[in-house]
Amino acid sequence: MKKIAVMTSGGDSPGMNACVRAVVRTGIYHGLEVFGIMRGYEGMIDGEFKKMESVDVSNIIQRGGTVLKTARSEGFMTSEGRTKAFENLKKNEIEGFVAIGGDGTFRGATVFEKEFGISCVGVPGTIDNDLFGTDYTLGFDTAINTAIDAIDKIRDTAISHNRLFFVEVMGRDAGFIALSTGIAGGAEAIVIPETETDIENLIVILQKGWAHKKTSAIVIVAEGDERGGAFEIAKLVKEKFNHYDTRVSVLGHIQRGGNPTVRDRILGSRLGMAAVEALIDGKKNVMAGLVNDELAFTPFANATKHHMEINKQMLQLVEILAL
Ligand code: F6P
Repeated sequence: MKKIAVMTSGGDSPGMNACVRAVVRTGIYHGLEVFGIMRGYEGMIDGEFKKMESVDVSNIIQRGGTVLKTARSEGFMTSEGRTKAFENLKKNEIEGFVAIGGDGTFRGATVFEKEFGISCVGVPGTIDNDLFGTDYTLGFDTAINTAIDAIDKIRDTAISHNRLFFVEVMGRDAGFIALSTGIAGGAEAIVIPETETDIENLIVILQKGWAHKKTSAIVIVAEGDERGGAFEIAKLVKEKFNHYDTRVSVLGHIQRGGNPTVRDRILGSRLGMAAVEALIDGKKNVMAGLVNDELAFTPFANATKHHMEINKQMLQLVEILAL
């Protein structure tokens, strides 16, 4: 393996730059040439490659976003697109690449390797924390800390106005951000896609709080809940329970930005180094992760979100602490 590439793909997440930096410097350390691919698979198809020197990744560890930019690629889902991408890699003699992204990224890399034999090692780069094979995905820690900062602010105004707030957090179709921020934010309830949403039960919880003289309340809603987002849940609750003046706040894409936390900077650095050394060792179609602080390599087929379980003990904790 003499020449490798690195790309960021799918939704960006804080810590991606730390990972890109570690990939470039680990590759150079081991005598490889490292290319940056701009905009994920879109840039691979367009041949937007940049030879990376150590200096090119200076002063980025602290920055959110990704200096390689990212995209979701319809083109890579076509055989023509993947063929163009392969030709570009071949032209640059690139034998393997590190893909920092989510399960869509890894599924694409699996097909690509089958068709063209190009090795890929993945790094779980998504704020959703919904990939099996790592305790945390890159960006999750920063996203929940960004969200909790907003939720604490919302709690200030909820208390001041005796209001009930429904706060919507990201996660596409996973409730990990909602679960962590719900507990950390002292929410009365969380609404997540992993558990059947029972509006009646949610109202019982809010009524109990009302009976215990709670003058305000916060419900965290994961955007992918089967009953809909925060506006929909608020509407369903208000129809039957209107003791509180109610408001909705959708946190949106602020959860994707910001300077990465220490945890995400170290996670990105460790997984970036691990991914390069895995490519050198001949590994492919695996995702690098940290499990109980130990490096782990999980086959792409197992790493996808369908294998991630929600922590049942944390779910019960939300109910107990809401009393
Ligand atoms: O997968 C990361 C994520 O932030 C999800 O939590 C969210 O639903 C989605 O990306 C938003 O996608 P986009 O940035 O394309 O709007």
